[in-house]
Amino acid sequence: MSQSIPATTSQANPDALAACEGCLSRRAFVSQAVLAAAAAALAACGGGADATAPSTIGATIRVSDYPALANVGGVALASVNGASLAIVRTSTTQFLALSRVCPHEAGRIDPVSSGFLCQKHGARFDATGTWTGGQRTSSMRAYPTSYDASTGVLSIG
Ligand code: FES
Repeated sequence: MSQSIPATTSQANPDALAACEGCLSRRAFVSQAVLAAAAAALAACGGGADATAPSTIGATIRVSDYPALANVGGVALASVNGASLAIVRTSTTQFLALSRVCPHEAGRIDPVSSGFLCQKHGARFDATGTWTGGQRTSSMRAYPTSYDASTGVLSIG
């Protein structure tokens, strides 16, 4: 007595095969699933378009509006032209303007006694915005500044 091997659906039923012409092949399904997972992973990394510091600021501030900048070493947190900045007075006539958007994955950077600290993964920066430890990343983005002592206006490029 011989045994018969059951036919697969597509072999047994041509209508079923025709009805599945729009179905994904297993390989295509797996490929799309992998792409979807990769996209989700990238999104989770905070790589959105608004997650980076702007390349320029193009604005001015009046230093006297920020009491923290009255003395050398003072740090003021300010939103300037929509950018979140830490402005540091480094001398009577010089200032640093640093983005508070972490270069790693856009966490918020806050001032601490030793400089700055990213609240998201713990990257540390000195008072000039140079990366010093913690999560490996680049230094804080710095914008050019020029101060007009006669008017008390700081231009941030
Ligand atoms: S976002 Fe990861 S260290 Fe700042």
